[in-house]
Amino acid sequence: MHIAIISGHDLDIFKGSEGLLVETSYGNVRISRKIMEDREIFFLNRHNSKGSSLPPHKIDYRANIEALSKCKVDTVISIGTVGSINEEMKPGTIVIPHDFIDFTKCRTYTFFNEKRVHIDMSEPFCTYLRKVLSESCKILKLEHKDKAVYLATEGPRLETPAEIRLFSKFADVVGMTLVPEVVLAREKRMCYASICIVCNMAAGLQERLTAREIVRLVSQKKKHIENLIVEAIKRISEDRDCDCRHALEEAEI
Ligand code: HPA
Repeated sequence: MHIAIISGHDLDIFKGSEGLLVETSYGNVRISRKIMEDREIFFLNRHNSKGSSLPPHKIDYRANIEALSKCKVDTVISIGTVGSINEEMKPGTIVIPHDFIDFTKCRTYTFFNEKRVHIDMSEPFCTYLRKVLSESCKILKLEHKDKAVYLATEGPRLETPAEIRLFSKFADVVGMTLVPEVVLAREKRMCYASICIVCNMAAGLQERLTAREIVRLVSQKKKHIENLIVEAIKRISEDRDCDCRHALEEAEI
């Protein structure tokens, strides 16, 4: 078993990691590797993996996931920031989504462009990994919600109040980086779950929204997230009752 953490921000627990440059069909990807809790853990900053800082709509999600796959990663914990549409998910809350809606517009969504593979998304996130994250939050007494619908927007702009009113009929949180990362991970048969940090109430639900506010909340929560990752890494076992490994069975026409 090989575990990877994908995040939009560097984490102090990975300071002093060994740097790797992994060759993929989409160019080289920077990953780091460290032994934690007697396990080999990979870390990838999704924005910086190609050498410069890329906005959410320009990230090469296929390069990132292929690079992890080449390192034999089969388990991914992803970290991202979100705005909340649900009054029960206030800024500072950790949200572990169970489903998503894709409102992105111009990304590359699949590894399968030459054959007809239709991946099942009935359970888009790994149920086992979501449980590990939720149990770890409980142990650490972190305020969290273990069910939420994530709506992915194209960005890089934030949403309008009218969009948020529309999304509020179907979703709890909005963010820009989950899709297609979660889909590509499933295509590589990885277990994937996400830790979303609620940084703000979405547009129209609070007075003003700034990128600086998002960054401030992330740095406030960084220690909690790092503790959560270490706790989860300890608890992830080889034995799991999820279907992620069988994602490609009966998927091809
Ligand atoms: N919208 C989209 N992405 C975000 C937000 C938001 O309000 N906050 C943090 N990431």
